[in-house]
Amino acid sequence: MARTWGNIFFSLLDYKTEKFVIAKNKKVGVLFRLFQLGVIGYLIGWVFLWKKGYQETEEAIQSSVITKLKGVDLTNSSQFGLQLWGAEDYVIPPQGERIFFVVTNYIVTPNQRLGYCPESPKVPDGLCNYDNECVEGETVIAGHGVKTGRCINDTGTCEIHAWCPVEHGQAPSEPLLSKAENFTIFVKNFIKFPKFSFSKSNVLPTANKTYLKTCRYDKDHHPYCPIFLVRDVINWTGYSFQDLAKKGGSVGVGIEWNCDLDKDESQCNPEYSFTRLDSSINSQNSVTSGYNFRFARYYNDAAGQTYRNLFKVYGIRFDILVNGKAGRFSIIPTVINIGSGLALMGAGVFVCDMILLYMMSKSSFYRETKFEAVTNLSTQNPQKAEKHFTCFHPENTTQTVEDFLMLNPIGFTVDV
Ligand SMILES: *[C@@H]1O[C@H](CO)[C@@H](O)[C@H](O)[C@H]1NC(C)=O
Repeated sequence: MARTWGNIFFSLLDYKTEKFVIAKNKKVGVLFRLFQLGVIGYLIGWVFLWKKGYQETEEAIQSSVITKLKGVDLTNSSQFGLQLWGAEDYVIPPQGERIFFVVTNYIVTPNQRLGYCPESPKVPDGLCNYDNECVEGETVIAGHGVKTGRCINDTGTCEIHAWCPVEHGQAPSEPLLSKAENFTIFVKNFIKFPKFSFSKSNVLPTANKTYLKTCRYDKDHHPYCPIFLVRDVINWTGYSFQDLAKKGGSVGVGIEWNCDLDKDESQCNPEYSFTRLDSSINSQNSVTSGYNFRFARYYNDAAGQTYRNLFKVYGIRFDILVNGKAGRFSIIPTVINIGSGLALMGAGVFVCDMILLYMMSKSSFYRETKFEAVTNLSTQNPQKAEKHFTCFHPENTTQTVEDFLMLNPIGFTVDV
């Protein structure tokens, strides 16, 4: 038994190498080389050059957006007279957010006071013929106030307790703030890729004050100017200012940062894109298109009485969406990608083996050569076998059954 263990120990120190069968078959040979070329091409061209498989990437971009609008417009509405609109009036909310609303059109109901007046005929629940249809104390569903119990014959609506007079009228057919198309939007965007501790801003360090005062973003001539003309932004979405200004709409401005940090920092620059986010071209008249809301400004008159101006504003909502990813060389993805490429080569060996051994006209010949069936050699021709190999043979070798099974799965050792 000691001898056996010794043998096992020494045979552990043998180095085993595979024996190859070279098939002189041009078809399979060419196929295999083509497959290898394909894998190498895929690995170098697609994985490494195109997909930058040697890089570690980060898609969790941290970003901050600050906006500022400039421009004024003087409007003249029939109910309200002249009014000057500055950025503090038409940008809602005014603090320079990532999402902001620019007023382009409005209906104003000036000088509303708490009191009694007829409900608007546009509210179905406010319509009446007799007093008993206006139950005192009931609110008008989707209306403006509380019913008083009287039906007013002139308008055919209930009298209500509300801010009077109630709003009426349509949005002006020409946007009142027509100069809004010439307002400018200054977008400051700061980004950070925390994994690489890399940060940058869309306002390039080379941009000086005079440039920033006069430039307007343009894909071809001023791709890094952070100041946008409202009209241009809307035109780039495929619509015109007139389309959106009357009833309002929603526009998305995308800022895409695609940074290869193996290159110089100056190569990492934002790319802008513009889309209309609400409605499609076919739904121009649908109830869903457009964007409006109401707000009121409250005042006290000389007698101390409160009154208010009610605004229903239509406008364009801008939504600035920041996206990005960055990549930098790293050894781990490089090794993983090379490894998976090599594994793919193994698939080629398998496929070519299958074709060679089972699909060719001479397959059986190749099979015989590749697979050697070893049976008990003493019953065959021992001389022939022993010419080249020292074979397992219980009578004339020093090997044991254990040796044979454990260390020689193929069934023979090369005699050197
Ligand atoms: C906006 O500016 C352009 C060019 O400066 C001018 O031609 C156009 O009349 C302006 N639009 C409005 C509504 O004033």
